[in-house]
Amino acid sequence: MKILVTGGAGYIGSHTCVELINAGYEIVAADNFLNSTPKAIEGVRKITAADFPFYEVDLLDEAELEKIFAEFEISCIIHFAGLKAVGESVAKPVEYYNNNINTTLNLCKLMKKYDVKRLIFSSSATVYRADSPMPLTESAELGATNPYGWTKFMCEQILRDTCQEGWAVALLRYFNPVGAHESGIIGENPSGVPNNLMPFIAQTARGLHKEVRVFGNDYDTPDGTGVRDYIHVVDLAKGHVKAVDYALKNTGCEAFNLGSGRGISVVEMLQAFERANDLKLPYSFAPRRAGDNAVSYANPEKAEKMLGFKAEKTLEDMCRDTWRFQRAVQADV
Ligand code: WQD
Repeated sequence: MKILVTGGAGYIGSHTCVELINAGYEIVAADNFLNSTPKAIEGVRKITAADFPFYEVDLLDEAELEKIFAEFEISCIIHFAGLKAVGESVAKPVEYYNNNINTTLNLCKLMKKYDVKRLIFSSSATVYRADSPMPLTESAELGATNPYGWTKFMCEQILRDTCQEGWAVALLRYFNPVGAHESGIIGENPSGVPNNLMPFIAQTARGLHKEVRVFGNDYDTPDGTGVRDYIHVVDLAKGHVKAVDYALKNTGCEAFNLGSGRGISVVEMLQAFERANDLKLPYSFAPRRAGDNAVSYANPEKAEKMLGFKAEKTLEDMCRDTWRFQRAVQADV
């Protein structure tokens, strides 16, 4: 029995492949390398000293995707594959709806055809309404503010409606994944100028940018800058293993917040990065970024109670592991 990991060469996907193998699961990974490279798959094999089947496939190609179902007996799917840049989704809505929804529908059709009963879905905290009270619980009102968030909202609904008798579906709502595997072999290496804070900090520390621009210091937060729930990507990956364990023993469709439950401001993150890595980060305050909320952080109790999952890594771990990977990438250049 195999765990099929779609988007297995991605940032969270590759870290989850490592933790699945460490937990004794057999995996088959699939990716189209649209936003990743084969180096991530090589990295997983190097870290785990394990080999596993990998398919380069676009999940929009149902016939190609079906070959994996025909080849292997799949016990559970973890569906990471998808477009995930909020800003890009505003510029390219049709591409986002086509890709993120039709890949999920293709998986649902093949699950029915091959009697695969379990799926873990890579969802996001962006499915919550921007004005929901903090900390966010899974019962908070849903409603996105951009096409990317709406694709996650719609895929959750598709899976809720498709979840049949005897199926188990876990909708994992990520907050802000950061960090890298302690080996420095895999991590977050976005192409182009990063939109997200942590990769931008890491590249600035490397001298690739003049400074970090802090988007807004006039929010209603302790230091005026945006507050988010950062979770180490290895903790997040371990949360997926817990979700697979859960899905193999239960049925029904459940949503879970995967966050630390702690809000950290932009300036606190900058200072933590400087402290953890003994360096100075140039930064300046800039106007707010359109679409940003002031505060977003999780109530992680449901995942703790039902999955036995709790984030363990510290802010220092997140900063130190990010910087180690960034320097490894630099060395490779
Ligand atoms: C974090 C904080 C910014 C960059 C996004 C997606 C979300 C999820 C995680 C997929 C905010 C501030 C940022 C910079 C800054 N992805 N910031 N200067 O926006 O919370 O969430 O990534 O599921 O869907 O929306 O993450 O890292 O972009 O921003 O001041 O150069 O850092 O204003 O307060 P965000 P982020």
